[in-house]
Amino acid sequence: MKKLEIAVVPGDGIGKEVVPAALKVLDTLAEVHGGLQFSFTEFPWNCEYYLQHGAMMPADGLQTLANFQAVFLGAVGNPQLVPDHISLWGLLIKIRREFDLVINLRPAKVFAGITSPLANPRDFDLIVVRENSEGEYSEVGGRIFRGEDELAIQNAIFTRKGSERAMRYAFELAKGRKKHVTSATKSNGIFHSMPFWDEVFQDVQADYPDIAARSIHIDALTAFFVTQPQIFDVIVASNLFGDILTDLGAAIMGSIGVAPSANINLNGKYPSMFEPVHGSAPDIAGKGIANPIGQIWTAKMMLDHFGENELAEELLRIIEEVTQAGIKTGDIGGKATTGEVTAEICQRITQLS
Ligand code: NAD
Ligand code: IPM
Ligand code: MN
Repeated sequence: MKKLEIAVVPGDGIGKEVVPAALKVLDTLAEVHGGLQFSFTEFPWNCEYYLQHGAMMPADGLQTLANFQAVFLGAVGNPQLVPDHISLWGLLIKIRREFDLVINLRPAKVFAGITSPLANPRDFDLIVVRENSEGEYSEVGGRIFRGEDELAIQNAIFTRKGSERAMRYAFELAKGRKKHVTSATKSNGIFHSMPFWDEVFQDVQADYPDIAARSIHIDALTAFFVTQPQIFDVIVASNLFGDILTDLGAAIMGSIGVAPSANINLNGKYPSMFEPVHGSAPDIAGKGIANPIGQIWTAKMMLDHFGENELAEELLRIIEEVTQAGIKTGDIGGKATTGEVTAEICQRITQLS
């Protein structure tokens, strides 16, 4: 029996609705599989926890999480209670940084049963490798308060190691896909970091003569996501470019509610973390109408991470069957609740055995 010890952080808003849905799906999969068992330990760290304790997690929170094989997270953020930069840097970004979760994998593809907002969506199937530890997400800089001339300086950090690591990951991934890597750049406008990023990309590219490679400026790249997403295979992007691109990738699939992600640790020292692309969606929280697919597809990525690829593919196939059957939440044109979509997915999983 393979037992997987998972730390679960539902977080805020719809995180508390879609995480239980995905756990149900994982437990159902384990039942039909037979040789697999999950042990879920839940941690109530969120903005309400912050109001009670003055921190998003206990002082030894990271040590606690480090004992698990993976972290399964919903979403963090309730700006009405806690400013976003405090809640996110106190939990989500803290875990990404302290656990060396240097790669953030975010796929997007034409999804059966979901209508893309694109008029003629060709059959796109892409994955963004987002550098997840540096770039524009940095604490370096500061604010200067001087009346009308008040200013804020935000430094972006690009190391050769960090950029190269993400790029190599992208090229390795492309070997098993369509053998094509696109680098998101902006070396025409950003003076230091982006020419450096391009230089590192050229160096890495030279080690992969069998993989086609090109660089596209991020502004044009976002336009191509809308006009011809089918030209992409693997895209490697810095932290902020990758963040923005992947909401767009989710949107062209049909909804941000369906997009998954995996934050990967490469040095084996810490657990990887799995969370959907979307946030806590305060506008729909508590109504039972959040799309659980992003979180459930995220669970699929966690199964892949643990080498359960067949089961993972079965799960994705079942999710697509359910959307094709029209059992969908409102964001993708249906009328079903979070619970109804989840129950239908679980029901179809039990029919596997
Ligand atoms: P959001 O992704 O929460 O919501 C954007 C829009 O998409 C909203 O209209 C929302 O209703 C909709 N949406 C999102 N997920 C959905 C789902 N599963 N089903 C149906 N509709 C869905 O982004 P936001 O509004 O910018 O952020 C809200 C809060 O979440 C903020 O505090 C933000 O910082 C935080 N956030 C957290 C994460 C994370 O923890 N990984 C990611 C993004 C945003
Ligand atoms: C994401 C989110 C986070 C990010 C925020 C909430 C800090 O948007 O995971 O995509 O920018 O990385
Ligand atoms: Mn984002």
